[in-house]
Amino acid sequence: MGPLPHKSLAEALANALKSREAKSARRRLTILPQKTVDFSSNDFLSLSTAPIYRNRLLAHLNNAPEFFPFSSGGSRLLDGNSAYAEELERFVAEFHNAPTALLFNSGFDANIGVLSSIPQPGDLVVYDEYIHASIHEGIRLSRAGRQAMFSHSSPIDLRKVLESSIRNDKNIQDGTRNIFIVIESIYSMDGDIAPIKDFLDIVDELLPCGNGYFIVDEAHATGVFGPRGAGIVQDLGVQERIFIRVHTFGKALASHGAVVLCGPEVREYLINYARSLIYTTALGFPFLAAIRTAYELLSSGETESLQGRLQKLVTYLHTRLASLQIHPSIMFEVDHFPESAIFALRTFQPRELASFCQRMGIVVRAIMAPTVPKGKERVRVCLHAGNTEEEIDSLATAVQHWLDTVSSNRDANL
Ligand SMILES: Cc1ncc(COP(=O)(O)O)c(C=O)c1O
Repeated sequence: MGPLPHKSLAEALANALKSREAKSARRRLTILPQKTVDFSSNDFLSLSTAPIYRNRLLAHLNNAPEFFPFSSGGSRLLDGNSAYAEELERFVAEFHNAPTALLFNSGFDANIGVLSSIPQPGDLVVYDEYIHASIHEGIRLSRAGRQAMFSHSSPIDLRKVLESSIRNDKNIQDGTRNIFIVIESIYSMDGDIAPIKDFLDIVDELLPCGNGYFIVDEAHATGVFGPRGAGIVQDLGVQERIFIRVHTFGKALASHGAVVLCGPEVREYLINYARSLIYTTALGFPFLAAIRTAYELLSSGETESLQGRLQKLVTYLHTRLASLQIHPSIMFEVDHFPESAIFALRTFQPRELASFCQRMGIVVRAIMAPTVPKGKERVRVCLHAGNTEEEIDSLATAVQHWLDTVSSNRDANL
């Protein structure tokens, strides 16, 4: 055990935790019992347990030459680079129809690396109000120094924010300063898709010098949406208009790490300036092999049946939730965007509903403010290709049961 913190520090830490406890916002690490039904993880294609993934990955590991190093041994810039990593980057770039790719150890590192280093002093970063914490961290570290937020997925508000920034800055008008627009292609809490084409048209119109640059985080679309799971940007065919795309491997690709898709000059710049790439040990061979495995499955079309299966289940759960009987006195709504594997069950008592389901062996999570805005607390349900119709039936039955219990308790208290 390390030294105990001094009394004042110990008190400060304990008080911070107590204050979280008082707001019912204290976070805890949990371990799920085995044999629970997963409606929570981001393993959208259930690839992490799929034999096609496991067998191919094990084959890659077994086929490695004898004494092939399993650890990278250092930063990419020192001993951590390899022909295998560079070949993987070329493979991933080709799959995503991008000029080049650069691996990072996580999506968090990729977003921090891009946003902290690329916007230059005087530039402006404009971001959607619901962007991921890692993008906020990157912006916080950015040398740009100026930032503005627009309302979630609102082309009208993006236009307003851009117009006012352009009006007040001659350098933006003449193209000597840049604006970076940062969005996700699919948002993790509601599963909604960003109106990327509308955004692109606005930026083309308002910044004709070409100094408006899009950075799109495809974390939740990777593997699930677009041609063979290549993402929303490729689904729309607008990859040439996007400055940087970030794809992460920890969700549908059952792996770790992330890739930044960009032009060769930007890649070279990141290698020189992205501290989250430079000052960390690069991914070792087993992790690279896992990423390679996932991309081989995507590009060969072997995951298409999983994508198709997931879409069937999305329709099935949508129908089951639409037929729930909800007493008019109870606030309960299902928010769901077409084709999304993410459903939001909105209620004033998300913790209670989540615990009720968990007691029945169904893993769903309550998502509270500040992760979602106040008043938008929900139970998040995430579907996977490996879920079954029977599991969905049991989820719908559990939710109905909970709704019935809440309404009869309410009647008894009147
Ligand atoms: C939109 C988005 N970007 C980035 C990340 C971070 O990716 P990673 O888990 O690989 O660090 C996540 C989730 O964790 C995410 O949801």
